[in-house]
Amino acid sequence: MNVTQLKLKNFRNYREAVIDFLPGVQVFVGKNAQGKTNLLEAIFFAVLSKSFRTAVDEELIGWDAAESRLMVLFQNRIADHNVQFILKKGEKRENLLNGQPMKKRDVIGYLNAVLFSPEDLLLIKGTPAGRRKFLDLELSQTQPAYYRALLQYQRALFQRNVLLKQIQEGQAKRAILDVWDEQLHPLAAILVRERQRNIGRLNEIAGRIHEKITAGRETFSAHYCIYAASGTETVSDYHFWYEDELKKNRERDIRRGTTEIGPHKDDIAFFINCRDGKSFASQGQQRTAVLSLKLAEIELMNESIGEYPILLLDDVMSELDEKRRLKLVEEINGKVQTFITGTERLHGLSDLKPMYYWIDSGVVSMDDGSLGL
Ligand SMILES: Nc1ncnc2c1ncn2[C@@H]1O[C@H](COP(=O)(O)OP(=O)(O)OP(=O)(O)O)[C@@H](O)[C@H]1O
Ligand SMILES: [Mg+2]
Repeated sequence: MNVTQLKLKNFRNYREAVIDFLPGVQVFVGKNAQGKTNLLEAIFFAVLSKSFRTAVDEELIGWDAAESRLMVLFQNRIADHNVQFILKKGEKRENLLNGQPMKKRDVIGYLNAVLFSPEDLLLIKGTPAGRRKFLDLELSQTQPAYYRALLQYQRALFQRNVLLKQIQEGQAKRAILDVWDEQLHPLAAILVRERQRNIGRLNEIAGRIHEKITAGRETFSAHYCIYAASGTETVSDYHFWYEDELKKNRERDIRRGTTEIGPHKDDIAFFINCRDGKSFASQGQQRTAVLSLKLAEIELMNESIGEYPILLLDDVMSELDEKRRLKLVEEINGKVQTFITGTERLHGLSDLKPMYYWIDSGVVSMDDGSLGL
């Protein structure tokens, strides 16, 4: 799939911009704080109907404007599409797919992307929340049923936690918890089943890519860890196990005023040469492992949706050394439309014949050589 055009009006520091893209590699170059990441953010908005940087839509509206318009035109294997969003200060936003008004969630799934930003380099040693987000981002855009279950789960969990606090303060009865528990356990079962399935495939593909990148010197694997189950052990009938755990831990949950067990607490363990990456991976090993994971994610999406997603690389090229950069180029060349941001032209990309765009205070110009990039 390819993004063919991006149109912005009062989006972040862009007053008005229309940018055409070709298949292949596009590089946004400019000094700091000029609007490079803002462009990736705008493209990604069409993927998950939300920003990857903020949950507050209003932050995206140009500071001196009342509304922002953003339109992404793209082709997937089915047809040409356009997604448009009109974000308004203090009002409900509008979402349009091919000119038709849609609910926010019904715009998802048409454009697919793998996003790789510097925070991802913390995936191995960072917080469990970061690792769960990694799984959720991929599954939500390729499986609408997963995304629905995730939203419902988060809503039910929030309500359950409110109720736990009310019970703690003697303002509600314990028995009402049954209502939320009954909603939670089938949803949790969907999330865990899909995450485990996804990790299983990712494991295979990332393992293969990692072996190739390290010329057979390292093995890499990933395991889904159910919080409170012992280690990386899988729970054979999660549905019943979780129902049971919610009951068993009810008094503790009331005391703490929060639900302590569930997919919102689960984690992924990454193993490099059979050792837990969280404790033992070096900086370089972490970088290679994350690169393997991201490349695997691209392949996995191709497997599940039947075509390659686009790839958004925010500031990561400068974080990868020449060798890793070349591996990345080798994997995406000719297959994946890629958007790269950086503060300077990058070496080792000439094989990809990239298109360069110069970004300066929210103004985009094509690099025809005269800009001296
Ligand atoms: N709602 C908004 N309205 C106007 N300007 C905004 C808005 N939100 C952010 N900005 C401006 O956008 C700029 C940041 O853009 P962006 O994050 O894309 O920078 P960048 O080019 O990626 O920089 P870096 O190289 O440091 O990552 C900042 O100057 C910021 O003040
Ligand atoms: Mg940036």
